[in-house]
Amino acid sequence: MKILIKNIKELLQTDDTPRTRVAGDEMASLPTIKDAYLFIENGLIKDFGQMSGLSDSDFIDGLDFHVIDASGRMVMPAFCDSHTHLVYDGSREIEYIDKIRGLSYEEIAKRGGGILNSARRLQEASEEALVEQAMVRMEEIRMFGTGAVEIKSGYGLTTDSELKMLRVIKKLKELSPLTIKATFLGAHAVPAEYKKRQGEYVDLVINDMIPMVAGEELADYIDVFCDRGFFTEEETDRILMAGVKHGLQPKIHANELDFSGGIQVGVKYNALSVDHLEFTGEEEIRVLKESNTMPTLLPGAAFFLEMEYPPARKMIDSGLPVAMASDYNPGSSPSGNMQLIMSLGCIKMKMVPEEVIHAVTINGAYAMGVENELGTIAKGKKANVIITTEVPTYAFLPYAYGSNKVEQVIVNGMI
Ligand code: NIG
Ligand code: FE
Repeated sequence: MKILIKNIKELLQTDDTPRTRVAGDEMASLPTIKDAYLFIENGLIKDFGQMSGLSDSDFIDGLDFHVIDASGRMVMPAFCDSHTHLVYDGSREIEYIDKIRGLSYEEIAKRGGGILNSARRLQEASEEALVEQAMVRMEEIRMFGTGAVEIKSGYGLTTDSELKMLRVIKKLKELSPLTIKATFLGAHAVPAEYKKRQGEYVDLVINDMIPMVAGEELADYIDVFCDRGFFTEEETDRILMAGVKHGLQPKIHANELDFSGGIQVGVKYNALSVDHLEFTGEEEIRVLKESNTMPTLLPGAAFFLEMEYPPARKMIDSGLPVAMASDYNPGSSPSGNMQLIMSLGCIKMKMVPEEVIHAVTINGAYAMGVENELGTIAKGKKANVIITTEVPTYAFLPYAYGSNKVEQVIVNGMI
């Protein structure tokens, strides 16, 4: 299939020399081409440039040749959502009501709600039912402009159920056109039966789960919820060491509820990303600056749980890159809408539109290890692109929060 998108009002996030991530001051400048075209062939970006440089004979008309007139519209790379938990059974709006009535996330978790609630349900659900529910969510996020997504396990919490969850993600990789990365998150919460024996659960993750997950090649990455009331820095250290030995690079939950040491231990094991980071001080920023680890912020969770937002401004002003992801999950962020995430980045974390666009495209791609194939408009990259509705400027995208500004999504060069 060949697709020529012409008369594009502004083509965003173009790359002449490939960038793998964008940091600090550079996040405020977005490369774009006004009055542009984009040519896609066999699923890849073949060419792009200014309309004035396009002559009709450049692309021979053929049978499978589509022309899209994008007058008044922006075209940009589809979102790379580098942190989700979108495989789960059912939903948790009962806890939402508890939350409205005043219970905190940790209080709900202590009463056996939260992650353990989803784990109980997932353990009983069939693989087919989980695939079916997840496919609906995948379709929903695609309509909002997501072209690549990372999905975690972590609602299994037994060896069998963790493997089941990862097999569901493997099935999604086969069924969905989206680019998917799978992350093993056996250390998401301590199951009730291990309540007083947390160390034994950590041993189970290390000795049982990790070897089987790696043996079946079910995961690309390993994650731990390193935070107050969940897993300690020492436990995280042991789990990551075992994961790395089995070829799983870390991508961890850190510093959502407190200064947990999670950022430091993630960097120690060369984590691809450390995520959440509501509690980030000078020391954490210093450690991140000396690393290749992508700080990934999840403002949807901070919004839903009414917590402090991560200090995005301070991070960027210190020269760090920042990625943003949805954290799509039933407990702390029941939405995978990356356009809303962009709005929260601007409204709540004082990022400018250029910065949030970098955070959900190239930096998100880096945070899930696909920066060489996705995240920018570059020749040879996979054609995962969004065509917006008619908008006056690209700042309109995070500004007009709540409505869907995505008119068409092209994934793998398919409309
Ligand atoms: O990223 N922080 C830990 N895990 C999820 C929440 C999962 C849940 O509540 O089900 C998160 O916010
Ligand atoms: Fe999460």
